[in-house]
Amino acid sequence: MRRNNRVSSVWRCVIAAILIALSMPGLFPAWEAAAETGDHQEIPLWTEEEKKELSALSLSSLPPLPKDPSNKYADDPKAIALGKKIFFDKRFSANGKVSCATCHDPETTFTDKLPLAKGMGTTTRRTMPLIGTAYFAWFFWDGRKDSLWSQAIGPIESSVEHGFTRSMCAHLITDLYKKEYEELFGRLPKLDHKSCPPKASPGTGNPAALRAWKAMKPEDRVAVNRIYANIGKAIAAFVRQILPAPAPFDRYVDAVVQNDEEKARELMGNDAVDGLKLFIGKAKCTNCHIGPLFTNSSFHDIGLNNPKDNGRADGIDKVLSDEFNCVGKYSDARPEECLELRFIDTNKAKYRGAFKTPTLRNVAERPPYMHAGQLKTLSEVLSFYRRNASDEFEHRDFSDQELAKIEAFLKTLSGPLNYPK
Ligand code: HEC
Ligand code: HEC
Repeated sequence: MRRNNRVSSVWRCVIAAILIALSMPGLFPAWEAAAETGDHQEIPLWTEEEKKELSALSLSSLPPLPKDPSNKYADDPKAIALGKKIFFDKRFSANGKVSCATCHDPETTFTDKLPLAKGMGTTTRRTMPLIGTAYFAWFFWDGRKDSLWSQAIGPIESSVEHGFTRSMCAHLITDLYKKEYEELFGRLPKLDHKSCPPKASPGTGNPAALRAWKAMKPEDRVAVNRIYANIGKAIAAFVRQILPAPAPFDRYVDAVVQNDEEKARELMGNDAVDGLKLFIGKAKCTNCHIGPLFTNSSFHDIGLNNPKDNGRADGIDKVLSDEFNCVGKYSDARPEECLELRFIDTNKAKYRGAFKTPTLRNVAERPPYMHAGQLKTLSEVLSFYRRNASDEFEHRDFSDQELAKIEAFLKTLSGPLNYPK
């Protein structure tokens, strides 16, 4: 991603220079003549340089699934199968009504279309889509997790999400999934309600649960933590497989690259093509929404001014002190493999109010938008960007028509999702 970023800033300069040259009267008489007669046939729509930039955004540039050294079960088919079952299993919740899929509904690109997610209670943030998450370094809006498996066990103990405890998870796995679990992770330890009280947990914020946890023998706590981490590793193996399949935009880029103009025109209308030009050009959206997943997986304050949420500034310490992070005891990685965590940028002042750049894949299908669902529609998002022009996105002068064109382009990013069905 980082390398893409650098490459693309070079392309941006090249493209900017070309666009300026094109806008100079008399410099390209052929282009102008074609524009006047409305005949675009003669002039290629995209320069070779632009084609390269488009290719970098297309799914054909998505590299193979990256390895997760912290999870040695990440690509094990048995882990995928077990993880999928747990993802949809409501029994891992205090009221028996909440599973991951309650909020991450496959029918709506694994979101719930709510401004704030609802499980046992209401959370303070919007449910994030699950598309190509295997490619990200940080998870949650504030990046307080550094792997999909340590992410997956967060919601289970959250009192407003699953409202469960890790001790109950250990008992439930023994009761419901013993065979599948042992085939993957080896024998389950002997734990009963005395050595492992179901309410015991250090992660729920409940003082009685914490007292019960601290009263457990250290070796029993480690045993429970290990089961808990393994549940995360199985769920992560499934979530990793949720991937985007080509959308009209990707098929358009393929056609453009193959110089098949007729096919290209069928795939994307004029407005969407104009919108795409603005997206990679004047609107500077690719400063952050870059690469085939349209995100740099980094954190930015785009000016939403949510006084209740510091975003990444608070996520930094959380991921560093997380017992389930990449360098922790339950990770399968060697410390030197935990590059992201070792080189984490700890400048909290820089990240106050900064949130993870979301993917724009399938974005039109899953309103509302932003970390707390602050904006209801795509046109609200685009008007917001116009109002909050800054160095990183300066388009105060955008007309309503231009915003509508960008919106038309964003709609071409919706395609089917692939995941183990
Ligand atoms: C109550 C609704 C709810 C439930 C249940 C829930 N999630 Fe989430 N999910 C969210 C919300 C809200 C966020 C963003 C939270 C934040 O930033 O603090 C999120 C974020 C995520 C992310 C981060 C994506 C990214 O790009 O960073 C992943 C992955 C994820 N959830 C997977 C899961 C899994 C796996 C489960 C089940 C173990 C689960 N979720 C259960 C609401 C939910
Ligand atoms: C400086 C980096 C940056 C730039 C430039 C940028 N974005 Fe964003 N974008 C973000 C971040 C960060 C968020 C999430 C912000 C939050 O919730 O606090 C976001 C959110 C969005 C969303 C909502 C997605 C969702 O799931 O909530 C859309 C749509 C979007 N951007 C489109 C655009 C478009 C179109 C442009 C160009 C006009 C653009 N962005 C420019 C960083 C950027």
